[in-house]
Amino acid sequence: MIPHLIPSHQGRPADDPIFSLHREATQRKARGEAIVDATIGVLLDEGGELAVLPTAARAVHEVPAVEWATYAPIAGTPDFLRAVIDDLFAGEPEMQRTAVAVATPGGTGAVRHAIANFLEPGQAMLTTSWFWAPYRTLCDESDRKLETFEMFDAQGRLDTGALDAAVARQLAAQGRALVVLNDPAHNPTGYSMSDEEWIAVADRLARRAAAGPVTLLVDCAYFLYGARDPRAFLRHLRPLLGQATVLFAWSASKSFTHYGLRVGALVACVADEAERTMVASALSYSCRGTWSNCNRGGLAAIARLLTDPDMARACAVERDQARGLLRARVDAFNADARKRGLVHPRYEGGFFVTVFADRPRERAEAMRAKGVYVLPQLPTPPPGAAAATGAPRGSLRIALCSVANRDVARLVEVLAGALALPT
Ligand SMILES: Cc1ncc(COP(=O)(O)O)c(C=O)c1O
Repeated sequence: MIPHLIPSHQGRPADDPIFSLHREATQRKARGEAIVDATIGVLLDEGGELAVLPTAARAVHEVPAVEWATYAPIAGTPDFLRAVIDDLFAGEPEMQRTAVAVATPGGTGAVRHAIANFLEPGQAMLTTSWFWAPYRTLCDESDRKLETFEMFDAQGRLDTGALDAAVARQLAAQGRALVVLNDPAHNPTGYSMSDEEWIAVADRLARRAAAGPVTLLVDCAYFLYGARDPRAFLRHLRPLLGQATVLFAWSASKSFTHYGLRVGALVACVADEAERTMVASALSYSCRGTWSNCNRGGLAAIARLLTDPDMARACAVERDQARGLLRARVDAFNADARKRGLVHPRYEGGFFVTVFADRPRERAEAMRAKGVYVLPQLPTPPPGAAAATGAPRGSLRIALCSVANRDVARLVEVLAGALALPT
């Protein structure tokens, strides 16, 4: 029988590998085994429970029933959109003035809209050679492609030269480029870009923008979990205004520890007024053509958390405590990993870190046999990249966000054993 499912969708995996590994780890834990599960990207407290900001939970519970029941406007409630723009651009009046936004179900929806509106079908978005796997799914779903540039240079810094060359290649090949950078606390590597790297990125993109439309999407899903002032990098993007379109995938999932609330926004800074209006309309149209509108209750809760000064302050204090939890794990990991000679990108904070390793599936399998779950990954090399660039050929992603501090030493020990490094 000829399958009714269209050929291009046949053979698609139903389950994300992260969720199937996590499910297995949870089942083994329930059977009484001592399991360390470093697969899932949510912040757990030291007792293994979801770390939820109490003030955020209160705001959600205090949303009146009628707010949950009512449709939101297609693009999202104006209060919410204003609050997100003001939150992001508190110190950047020019960005604030040129910004338009639509509500999206999490940062995922924002990335989806960026792909669908700033690339034609068949064109490729450009991101780092290590990237959050759903980027590819989002491209597949929109009939777009994904290409990468080598993320790290020989010194372990962001390879801005490789980015520049890839943008030039894409502009020549497809007449436009959409560059997606996840920063700070990049998933999966844990890397946070330095000021110099942001300056170099903006400079390269501004120059390339003379040859065709360049759009930069900053996926800032983890921006409140980096080690530095989360908004400091914005000033480095100023030279791009008027040259490139600058987008932000904003998410409440991690910032307010409400992953299931599905609240996010795509924010677009567009200098030209007529184009800004056109972008706002296209994004709103995309909302209508996908999820129609987001849940109004979620938008109301997050808008209140952003704008009520007492609640915003309380959230900041609670978030600092959550960050402290994470910080202690990051410090423990860095110290143990150094002792064991593990190779990983500079890691100053955030939900994940990645340890470079060849044959990652084999290593992850050996760890799984010892009750420690991590995610094996292979990078997506840039098109035409020679096999022997010296770049690492695989890695293991560790979600420290979900590992108790007391388990970090065991995790590193089992990992070092799997890599057969000297102890
Ligand atoms: C890199 C990155 N971007 C975006 C997201 C979007 O998350 P959400 O849709 O829950 O906001 C995530 C979540 O894991 C992520 O890791």
